Amino acid sequence: MIEFILNNQHINTDFSPTTVLLDFIRKEKKLTGTKEGCREGDCGACTILLGELVNGNVFYKSVNSCLVPLGDAHGKHVVTVEGFNQNELSPIQAGMIDEGGTQCGFCTPGFIVSMTGYFLNNETPEIDGAIDALGGNICRCTGYVGIKRAAEHSISVYKKTDPKLKFMNRLIEAGFIPEYFNSIKKQLAAIGITRRKDFQAEYLIGGGTDLYVQQWESLVQSKADFTSLEKTPYEIIKLKDKIKIGGATTIQQVLNSSIVKKYYPSLQNNLELFGSLPIRNRATVAGNIVNASPIGDMTNILLALNAELQLKSSKSKRTVKLRDFYKGYKLLNKKKSESIDWITIPIPSKRFLFNFEKVSKRTYLDIASVNSSILLEEKNNIIKSIGLSAGGVAPIPLYLSKTCEFLIGKKISAATVNDAAEIAIKEISPISDARGSAEYKKLLLRQLIYAHFIVLFPQVIKAEQIV
Ligand SMILES: Cc1cc2nc3c(=O)[nH]c(=O)nc-3n(C[C@H](O)[C@H](O)[C@H](O)COP(=O)(O)OP(=O)(O)OC[C@H]3O[C@@H](n4cnc5c(N)ncnc54)[C@H](O)[C@@H]3O)c2cc1C
Ligand code: FES
Ligand code: FES
Repeated sequence: MIEFILNNQHINTDFSPTTVLLDFIRKEKKLTGTKEGCREGDCGACTILLGELVNGNVFYKSVNSCLVPLGDAHGKHVVTVEGFNQNELSPIQAGMIDEGGTQCGFCTPGFIVSMTGYFLNNETPEIDGAIDALGGNICRCTGYVGIKRAAEHSISVYKKTDPKLKFMNRLIEAGFIPEYFNSIKKQLAAIGITRRKDFQAEYLIGGGTDLYVQQWESLVQSKADFTSLEKTPYEIIKLKDKIKIGGATTIQQVLNSSIVKKYYPSLQNNLELFGSLPIRNRATVAGNIVNASPIGDMTNILLALNAELQLKSSKSKRTVKLRDFYKGYKLLNKKKSESIDWITIPIPSKRFLFNFEKVSKRTYLDIASVNSSILLEEKNNIIKSIGLSAGGVAPIPLYLSKTCEFLIGKKISAATVNDAAEIAIKEISPISDARGSAEYKKLLLRQLIYAHFIVLFPQVIKAEQIV
């Protein structure tokens, strides 16, 4: 049985755990405020909140219900737009009407849910953050200005609440959420997670953001296990000389991690280029690696950082370098029975420099045509060690081993960068597809290698010297 709270209703269901949560909400529960648009995580019309009990508190995340398996709702609070206005419209809903934030209305519930999710996660809301939280919602009618005004209106309503009240009570007092939210913690604590030890699954599902786009119809008929129930770790730990990232850690957790911010500060901005907030709230690090897309952003970064994977099955544990993990297009150095438990990256020395570059048709909310990461240590202008990766230019996420070999011991100069780019282009085998021709991708990789050095060594390498 799958047990969870849907708005303020306790649910016990024997539906297949692989059922798409959106379908359960709309077809079974007839909560039709949650809309079905693209069914691919792109439009945000199906956005709901998933509340999870962590260390005694409930944390809410906006997610695309079209990509969430019902089984992953177990033990959680699922909130649809119907869960907010029990007696009257919430300030966000009222703002959307009064400020002209809605026309045909198809996208509106998704915007309201994302905006409420923003308020639930921010005790000091401000407009830029609210707009970022709406990055995964698309509207074809309004032109967004009315939606922005609705967000501003909601912030001004919140600011008038009594700051002495507990945060949740401030939101309840202003009508952002109904009173029943205060009872959710107790209700979730009463639901335990039990699973059969002998369970044989055909699929292992992380966040489902790849699997449910590619094959939701076959998944619905299948037996699957969830990394969340499997107890695959979803935390980030600092050890003496390395950082350990749990396989089920989400991209948003990496982006928010104080440990990652300390050692790789630029990663926060880099990862904002990964999908939208609802996608980052679900997409796991291990899922990105095992999906083996040649343009996976996290994988590209981890290749440059020289990550190692700890693989686990019921019988064994072993460690593999990410650089040795890909054997061919979607061919992995991994048995079907193995899952990724941890991903470890070394803590860099103080002299290390890191940069990530991604070219896509749109800056935000798009997957890369070509991406590249570099981790480099230099002393007296000489390259001491280097990790350089390239995505979208080969059947696998590529580590540019020959280019790295060439660069070690070289003086940082325009000539070195030009020579390195020439070697990199010989190392790759891009194909022409919807993201660009093979020639264009070669050109892009050359430009990205130039960009790395211009960004990291602005005093030494000037754009006009090499471009
Ligand atoms: C709208 C949208 C935008 C996106 N934008 C980006 C983007 O900008 N950049 C990018 O790189 N990707 C992007 N993606 C792709 C996707 O979100 C990522 O690849 C994500 O990291 C996949 O993780 P997941 O947990 O959702 O994987 P899932 O779909 O759950 O699984 C993917 C594969 O990994 C396996 N798996 C999951 N966890 C484990 C584990 N612990 N051990 C072993 N195998 C495991 C599954 O069995 C499956 O084969 C986007 C996807 C969508 C829908
Ligand atoms: S239906 Fe478009 S994101 Fe889910
Ligand atoms: S109001 Fe029509 S799509 Fe947004």
